[in-house]
Amino acid sequence: MAERLSGKRIFLTGAAQGIGLAIAEACLAEGARLFLVDRDGALLDKTVAGLAVPRGHVGHAAADISDGAAIAAVVSQAAAEIGPINALINNAGVNVFSTPLEATEEEWNRNFDVNVKGAWNCSKAVLPGMIASGGGAILNIASTHSFTIIPHTFPYPVAKHALLGLTKSLALEYAAQGVRVNALAPGYVETQKAIDYWNSFADLATARANTMALHPGGRIATAREIALAAVFMISDECPFMNAATLVVDGGLSQLQHPA
Ligand SMILES: NC(=O)c1ccc[n+]([C@@H]2O[C@H](COP(=O)([O-])OP(=O)(O)OC[C@H]3O[C@@H](n4cnc5c(N)ncnc54)[C@H](O)[C@@H]3O)[C@@H](O)[C@H]2O)c1
Repeated sequence: MAERLSGKRIFLTGAAQGIGLAIAEACLAEGARLFLVDRDGALLDKTVAGLAVPRGHVGHAAADISDGAAIAAVVSQAAAEIGPINALINNAGVNVFSTPLEATEEEWNRNFDVNVKGAWNCSKAVLPGMIASGGGAILNIASTHSFTIIPHTFPYPVAKHALLGLTKSLALEYAAQGVRVNALAPGYVETQKAIDYWNSFADLATARANTMALHPGGRIATAREIALAAVFMISDECPFMNAATLVVDGGLSQLQHPA
């Protein structure tokens, strides 16, 4: 059977662990060439060393997506190494959880610098080459926080809502040039970020069990389950999907909890 991502040259952020690592593994298994970026260079080196690369090619570099100049340089390096980038997956993100009255200006800025400006920086760096070569696909990893609000997680959902705005803006601006821009919205996913969140409660086991119980199926997603949806969205299997958000949350966002 043909590999589903053969010919794709993917720039993927936040690839050192979690959902990003699962996406990298799934894309490699489908024959893509990858360039992986993470601000944690030591962890990224270790992760790349452990990747099975049966076909394709994996390049990587440490960079902070909130630094536009650094990202422009790394995108040039990526194109030189794996060929012109025709797919971008904006996965890197940070949890910044507080309340509207307690959040500091530093938290507000960090949240927007990474979760929104980071995706814009990468898109801006990749789009000229993508347009020049006839098009491509951009996928933004959003969240159910992109359309629902969980109290005490401010200002993270404000940024994740904005990420859908960025998705739609880019999608409409560049559709005629063959670029598709979509968002994938996971619910809870078992990653280090989720573990850090549970650790912020006094009793990790109870916090974890409470999260599981929120879900109609009684469990949260694995990173691979999110990665499989990302492969579909970045592939040529959905050529008319544009400005869309695919929700992969096990039904969480449709559940009305009793008052
Ligand atoms: N885990 C969940 O439950 C969940 C749910 C919905 C959405 N998401 C989203 O999925 C994405 C990945 O989340 P995850 O759970 O795998 O997180 P994670 O913390 O496990 O991994 C995120 C990676 O991004 C990197 N990163 C963070 N800021 C960066 C920056 N400024 N520049 C470059 N790299 C940076 C980190 O070093 C880390 O390796 C995020 O956008 C997150 O908001 C996660």
